[in-house]
Amino acid sequence: MNLTLKIWRQKDANDKGKMVDYKVTDISEHMSFLEMMDVLNEQLVGSGDQPIAFDHDCREGICGMCSMYINGEAHGPDRGITTCQLHMRMFKDGDTITIEPWRAKAFPVIKDLVVDRTSFERIQQAGGYISVNTSGNTQDANAIPISKIAADEAMDAATCIGCGACVASCKNSSAMLFVGAKVSQYALLPQGQVEAVERVQNMVAQMDLEGFGNCTNTGACEVECPKGISLENIARMNREFLSASLKG
Ligand code: SF4
Ligand code: FES
Repeated sequence: MNLTLKIWRQKDANDKGKMVDYKVTDISEHMSFLEMMDVLNEQLVGSGDQPIAFDHDCREGICGMCSMYINGEAHGPDRGITTCQLHMRMFKDGDTITIEPWRAKAFPVIKDLVVDRTSFERIQQAGGYISVNTSGNTQDANAIPISKIAADEAMDAATCIGCGACVASCKNSSAMLFVGAKVSQYALLPQGQVEAVERVQNMVAQMDLEGFGNCTNTGACEVECPKGISLENIARMNREFLSASLKG
């Protein structure tokens, strides 16, 4: 395949940035999207130009680093996958592909397609943990009975990889799907009850402090989420928040 790529280039956080056109040729349909980007970068380095900065680590849908907005969709045109799992067979010869970074006030661009997502880390630090007695009397986790339904729902919530696609695809740049998943994964389990009240209050407060917008039930986040995190997690977070407020 021969393709035209329109890619966001931005030298650093202070640069205004602009879209730049590139051509790539002989791209195999079996390549992943990031392998196609590697081909372009080899081309750029070979001609003495700056390669395009983009985040990646695992390249297998686990780490949540590969944040690219492709043809107006977070993680591109396929469903239930991250950018690193996107294959070039989703495109055809002669296509023009537009590639941008996540766009949200709370995810400032560092360079080209790389954004700063430490706001997510700070939300996690505000409540994404449990207290466990490590004094020698630690209870074996398997000794605590948990219903199959609660265990399955907690596991589903825990599959969130913190990629930020939910924020990028939301017209309000809301992080409520992410925070809803993180709150839910503990709220559904007995181990998460010790800090339940402070957790939801602190995580929501940090989310607001970071400048994320509010949820208006559009549902774009759920559609674009590579892990299929359900909007039900936002509803659960709202219930947890209301209940925490009543408990003071
Ligand atoms: S909820 Fe989905 S889209 Fe949002 S950070 Fe988690 S995995 Fe990514
Ligand atoms: S590089 Fe890890 S999820 Fe894509």
